[in-house]
Parts: sequence; structure tokens; C-alpha cells
Amino acid sequence: MEMRAMKTDVAATGHEQPNPGHIMQTATAFWASKVLLTAVEFDLFTVLGEQALTADQLGDQLNLHPRGRYDFLDSLVAGGFLQRDGDGVEGRYHNTADTGTFLNKNSPAYIGGMPEMMNARLFGFWNHLGEALRTGQPQNEIKHTGKPIFEEIYADQAKLGQFLEAMTGFQAGNFMMLAEKFDFTKYKTVSDIGGALGLLSRIVGQRHPHLALTTFDLPPVAPQAQQRIDEAGMTDRIKVVAGDFFADALPKADVITLGNVLHDWNLERKKVLIKKAYDALPEGGALIAIENLIDDARRENLFGLLMSLNMLIELGDGFDYTGANFKDWCSEIGFKRFEIIPLAGPTSAAVAYK
Ligand SMILES: C[S@@+](CC[C@H](N)C(=O)[O-])C[C@H]1O[C@@H](n2cnc3c(N)ncnc32)[C@H](O)[C@@H]1O
Repeated sequence: MEMRAMKTDVAATGHEQPNPGHIMQTATAFWASKVLLTAVEFDLFTVLGEQALTADQLGDQLNLHPRGRYDFLDSLVAGGFLQRDGDGVEGRYHNTADTGTFLNKNSPAYIGGMPEMMNARLFGFWNHLGEALRTGQPQNEIKHTGKPIFEEIYADQAKLGQFLEAMTGFQAGNFMMLAEKFDFTKYKTVSDIGGALGLLSRIVGQRHPHLALTTFDLPPVAPQAQQRIDEAGMTDRIKVVAGDFFADALPKADVITLGNVLHDWNLERKKVLIKKAYDALPEGGALIAIENLIDDARRENLFGLLMSLNMLIELGDGFDYTGANFKDWCSEIGFKRFEIIPLAGPTSAAVAYK
């Protein structure tokens, strides 16, 4: 009754009627998500490549049962991930500009690593969000082994590769924008800490030929980073250093970057890393955290807030944070000046100057 009275009031005042659309759209969002993730899992966008195929031609190549072929492919059309010329059995499906560029494995701009990992790991783990919220405990591979997450993932070569590829797809656009928007001309050296496959160093190094760069990560990651750097022809420009950022000092540089690193850890460990970065910088040097910084009022950056829940699922006590949090932690340690540089979509660079 109360609900009905409220609705009438809204109508009487001429304000917008309550509408269940947004609720239902979000409640069913995992359907749309799973369709896209499954298409990536089946490598549909690569199989399609430059071709335009009928549902039966594509369905045969992907080994799809006839029952789901049209529903699956037409959901991708309606979702904006495929285009179709014609209708019915004659209709021919082809990639959109976006899927042909970013989800075709033969394209140099492929970013399917992140959807692949979302599908293989996170989709299932997020089914246990409720348990994570009740217990504060991670819900991934370490739920039962209790091992540190990177030790667990990196013990398995396939998972190591999948994780590193996923990181690459996630940050490429941000690193390109950082290379444009941050004034690297004042500095000579950059150390990227937790640098994974050395993507930041490769992108920033290509854009700023005067810089000498170091990418620092755990020992199992180093050979893969070295391979990517060699392939990019940047062996002389980027040094790969293997180490543990909690056990070892960070390689000294004028600029220290931490891409999606601080959010992996609890507050105590975040502060340890910020202090180590401070110690590795000269006066006037800059620490840059590239993360999905949550807006200070915690009302707007939905992706940043969801990323923080993802850290609960993956690490338990790791969490994302606001620009104001970053400034507070860094001031405590001695940094003097701060700046936030918006990057792609929900990501920003939080900069602290020593
Ligand atoms: C979430 S990934 C971010 C990768 C990359 N910076 C980016 O922005 O995409 C975190 C990185 O930290 C590295 N890492 C984790 N623990 C580490 C440690 N103790 N010492 C050095 N690197 C570590 C991981 O191997 C991984 O590459």
C-alpha cells in the first residue's frame, strides 16, 4: 500500500515515475556479459576475421549446436559486437570496427586477454561475492590453499600467461594517455614497479626517446617481460629487474610508477610501498599510481568501486582508494605536492612529488 501511495504522489507532482528498467537491466547484465565472454572464449572474432559468414557457416566452424546459433549470434548483433547483412539463413555476420580491432587475435591491438581471464577465473569467483562480503575472505584459487595470490597464479605457466595478458589489455590505453599527459621531459629515468610485461616502459619509452627505463617484477615474470621488450626492439632502453618489492629496495629513478599495484594490498603494505618509492626518488621526483581512482565522495566511479570489490574477491584485504586517500598516505610519508591526471575512462594517474 505504501508503495502505491508513493507512486501516486510521484505522478501527482509530475516528477519522473519510478521505473524498474535500470534494476532489471543490471540484474540481468551477467547474461550479456557471459555472451560476450563466451564469444571471446570460442575465439569467434578471430575465426570471423575479415569474413562475412552465415550463421551456419560460422556455427559449423565454432562447433555450435543448431539450437543456440541464431540466439547467440543475434545477441551479439543486438549488443553491438557483430554486424549482420541480411536476415535469416541468408544473413551474413561480420566483425564491427571495434571487435575486428580489439578482439581478433590477429590484430596487434588485441585486448581479449582481460575477457579471457574474466571468463576463466572471475566469472565463477564473483558468484561467491556474498560469502566474501560476510567473511572478508578472498574467493579465488587461494580460498582453499591460503597461499599468497601471485605465488598461486604464477606456479601455473598457463595462468601466469593469462594473467599477464589480461593486465596488458587493461592498461594499454591508460599508459598511452599517461605518456601524452604527464610531462616526462623534465626527467631522465623511470622505474615501473610491478611492471608485468613491461608495457608501461615500452609505451612511455617509445613516446619519450630520451628516457632510460626499468621494469621491476617477480622472477617468474622477468623472462616474459624481457621477451616482449626484445620483440619491441627496446632491449637497450629498458632494463628488466627481477625482485620482490617487499623484500628488496626499489630501483632508483626520477619517476616511479605503480600501475594497479597499490590496490592489491592492505593499508599497511600500501604505505610500505609508498615509503619505498619515496626512498628510491630524488628531491623533486614523482611517484605515479595509475589506478581506477574512486571519486572522493565515493558516489560516481562505479568501475573503481567494483574494482575494489574485485580486490576483495582476489586478495581479501586489498582495496581501491580515492585521490584524497592517496594524498593523505603520501603526505604522511613526506611527499609535498599532488596532482590527479584523468586517463582513459575510469582510470586516473595520482601523482605525488617528493
Ligand atoms: C595487478 S598487476 C599490475 C601490472 C601492471 N603494472 C599494470 O598496470 O597492468 C600487479 C603486478 O605486481 C606484481 N607483483 C606482485 N607482487 C610483487 C612483489 N612482491 N614484487 C614485485 N612485483 C610484484 C605482479 O607480478 C603483477 O605484475
